[in-house]
Amino acid sequence: MNVTIIGSGYVGLVTGACLADLGNHVFCLDVDQAKIDLLNSGGIPIFEPGLKEVIERNVEAGRLVFSTDVAASVAHGEVQFIAVGTPPDEDGSADLKYVLAAARNIGRHMDGFKVVIDKSTVPVGTADKVAAVIRAELAQRGVQDMSFSVVSNPEFLKEGAAIEDFTRPDRIVLGVKDDVEGRQALATMRELYAPFNRNHERTRVMDVKSAEFTKYAANAMLATRISFMNELANLADEVGADIELVRQGIGSDPRIGYSFLYAGTGYGGSCFPKDVQALASTGREHGQVLRVLEAVEAVNRDQKQVLVNKVFARFGHNLLGKTFAMWGLAFKPNTDDMRDAPSRVIIGALLRAGASICAHDPVATEEARRVLAVDFAEAPALLDRIRFAGKPMEAVQDADALIIVTEWKAYRSPNWTALKTAMKAPVIFDGRNLYEPHAMRQNGVHYIAVGRGGHG
Ligand code: UDX
Repeated sequence: MNVTIIGSGYVGLVTGACLADLGNHVFCLDVDQAKIDLLNSGGIPIFEPGLKEVIERNVEAGRLVFSTDVAASVAHGEVQFIAVGTPPDEDGSADLKYVLAAARNIGRHMDGFKVVIDKSTVPVGTADKVAAVIRAELAQRGVQDMSFSVVSNPEFLKEGAAIEDFTRPDRIVLGVKDDVEGRQALATMRELYAPFNRNHERTRVMDVKSAEFTKYAANAMLATRISFMNELANLADEVGADIELVRQGIGSDPRIGYSFLYAGTGYGGSCFPKDVQALASTGREHGQVLRVLEAVEAVNRDQKQVLVNKVFARFGHNLLGKTFAMWGLAFKPNTDDMRDAPSRVIIGALLRAGASICAHDPVATEEARRVLAVDFAEAPALLDRIRFAGKPMEAVQDADALIIVTEWKAYRSPNWTALKTAMKAPVIFDGRNLYEPHAMRQNGVHYIAVGRGGHG
């Protein structure tokens, strides 16, 4: 099948590469010439395990092309995936300008039936807006008898596991209209996704609005679990309970399950913060305050400060002359994504309190430099006190304490003797609960974690 992907960002690239891998001919469009040039010269603008290989083999096979040519992109695909960004507006609602610009281009150039797929996470009702924009463009051209259908097909990819998630989906949600064009679009989508449904039907067909809502509901539910556990972890610290044991104790109930119950430094990334805000904003637009969700967000904002408060509790609020090692910058392992990463809040607070930082991350250092330059645009001199180390052990050299922010595998079993020798004093603030408090005590490490009974 000929497939067009509008937007060669994270979702677009993964979708395009994986669909090409199934034998489709995929045309990836982007307005950013530099990004397209990079892709055409064999570079990949994001870090995602396995993506480079999938892209390379499909470019080589002639099934995957990258271009900025809008007219050619519309002509290419019977299916047109809209996978552009939906950044939050000032009030937290999703900004649809890129989505609607993509729709406008489709309407302007289409010359036959098109299935237009909203892949970006968009508020309920967006498919109607996309359809209205396409219709308006067709009317402008004086075209009356050209049909299309807008399908909602939200993505549930996790960064760092996106290829796996795309090729082995738990479910494929398809929101389609119950009319002639909608049924035709559904048949096309079923054909496109047939390889994923061979042994087990994973498609969930529903109306368009329910499909749009499903994506927000899924992310909001997961974010709720995290904030709930973080709030309990803070209480566990006060009462002397261990949140890790509590997690196991409740996760074994199949109604609760083990996933997404890890307390930590708060959720970040490109989806949860944005989607929670956007759903809350949809609620407000409809005169309904989503109280649970508003609390989820507030708890998460505070949680990014929890490690900082633990540092202040031990070292005081004036950290001048103190050096902290930091392990992990990305919002989670296996990605270089720094969007809404807790590390940014922690770095900001420590530098403002006078501390120096030596940070390590296996892949996110460059991205961290870039975003920190933006975060500290008003006070760039503060950045003189942060350095980046090439190895975890380099970062801890002469540090007053180590702060663990991202649970990369490389941090799970450090050489304790080397670590203790390198540091001024063996003090660890662990935002990801990587180690066992009793083992740390035996090890002579002063260990302060999240929700492990206050004494780490
Ligand atoms: C998420 C959804 O999982 C995915 O389905 C959707 O398409 C996009 O948003 P992603 O942002 O890649 O994916 O990351 P995810 O692995 O879900 O983690 C999100 C955040 O929650 C991270 O900051 C992570 O550290 C945090 N988290 C996750 C916890 O703090 N505790 C947990 O138990 C799980």
